[in-house]
Amino acid sequence: MDKICPVLTVIAVLILLYILWCFIEPFFLDLDRAVMRKISTDKIGGDGITVKKLPFSGSPASGTPDLRFFFFSDIHAEWCPVTAKRLCDSIRKVHSKSPLDAVIFGGDIVTYQQNAKTGYRYLSRISECCRELSIPFYGITGNHDCNLGNAAEPSGFISLDNKTVSFRSHKSSAGIILAGLPDSGKYNRVWPERLPCSNTEPVVLITHDPDTIIHLAPDSRPDFMLSGHLHGGQMKFPFRIEFTILRKTDKLPQMGAVQGLYDISGTSVFISRGLGCGLLPFRFLSVPEATVVEINL
Ligand SMILES: [Fe+2]
Repeated sequence: MDKICPVLTVIAVLILLYILWCFIEPFFLDLDRAVMRKISTDKIGGDGITVKKLPFSGSPASGTPDLRFFFFSDIHAEWCPVTAKRLCDSIRKVHSKSPLDAVIFGGDIVTYQQNAKTGYRYLSRISECCRELSIPFYGITGNHDCNLGNAAEPSGFISLDNKTVSFRSHKSSAGIILAGLPDSGKYNRVWPERLPCSNTEPVVLITHDPDTIIHLAPDSRPDFMLSGHLHGGQMKFPFRIEFTILRKTDKLPQMGAVQGLYDISGTSVFISRGLGCGLLPFRFLSVPEATVVEINL
């Protein structure tokens, strides 16, 4: 008994420290840089999905990228300790160093529909900041947003759901299409099979759930894709049980793609850890993330 008590005390302290850290981690913000390069011009042919992890470059790319975006996802505004003001400060800081072509929100405004106003308030602050800086602000629907109706208007972003917008490369003046696909939600899911545009020009697709790439027809896969949804696992457990047991429906994590940069069947894919917390107000080894995305053709 004398030996068991200290062991139990140590275990109890460790559990308390774990819970404390899970509560503290959502207050951090990792403002990082994803340097994306076009991988392949031959994505057609072969339905099989291949996943290859790419090095995540936090260092500046040499020279000017073709396009430069600020990407954030999954605010889940009920519990998002990274405030809109803090995010605006990051956007200002990044834009003052090198101009941004757009600020892009990757979906999931709130976890529960009844809290939508909290999320709209958060995003409308980002929208004001973008307006001040004359940067266009785009967004798409996440799986938690699909019943919100027109969320873009009160949030102040331009919806890219099934829409496209054209950009010109800063390096070559080549045309680049930014396209968006909405999420149909958790139940009665419908996966899109085609992009909302042709891919004769380079396409950067914004879609909340990275599993979209699995369902797109091989000849409709984009060159680049930006996603969120997975929260980097949000709370990492031994043996990856957050995906192997708790979120079994997400296919890409079963194939090793959870966060960061990947070559998925010839498409350059970035999966963000997102900013807020879904369901539980905790994160563990999955710091909130906002990202400067540099597109290089
Ligand atoms: Fe989410």
